[in-house]
Amino acid sequence: MIEVGVFTGGTAIFAAAFFKAVFMAFDYVCLDIKDHLLILPKTEKRLGMRYEFGKTSDAFAGEVFDVVFIDGDYSFKWAKRDYLNLGKFATKICAFHDVNAKEYLPKGGGVYNFWRHLCSSVARDMTAIEICHSDAHVGAQKDGNWMGIGILDMTSK
Ligand SMILES: C[S@@+](CC[C@H](N)C(=O)[O-])C[C@H]1O[C@@H](n2cnc3c(N)ncnc32)[C@H](O)[C@@H]1O
Repeated sequence: MIEVGVFTGGTAIFAAAFFKAVFMAFDYVCLDIKDHLLILPKTEKRLGMRYEFGKTSDAFAGEVFDVVFIDGDYSFKWAKRDYLNLGKFATKICAFHDVNAKEYLPKGGGVYNFWRHLCSSVARDMTAIEICHSDAHVGAQKDGNWMGIGILDMTSK
């Protein structure tokens, strides 16, 4: 798995612990333009995590991962670039965070518009699932439809 924009490692540690428990050979590339990480070296090693800081998805363009989680820069431009560099090569899942976050619309349409654009272009070829994970009256939108994770099931192609 690769996570684009790992930040402090909250999602990474949770996902790595789950996948490592079901598949011993699992490893996790944690990518970020900056080092914000708060995970202990012993834990990283145990969970098969490898850090790649000061880099973007450009450094891994064309590499194949089972799972790609895109959660870095929320602009349309970077959501598209991360998808073209990594997401479209995923063998099982390509997921984007913040597909319902309208606060990123000023960033060229944001990941919000990229996700919709992508869904309309791949709709005939694979299954897309959207999970909303916000309570009403919470966050930037307060409409109960904030943030959200968009998932492309690459196995359905
Ligand atoms: C909201 S945080 C990610 C949160 C993290 N995925 C989690 O679930 O806890 C966004 C992160 O993306 C990083 N970032 C911003 N632009 C990026 C890019 N183009 N490529 C990789 N990382 C980027 C930032 O440094 C920041 O740490």
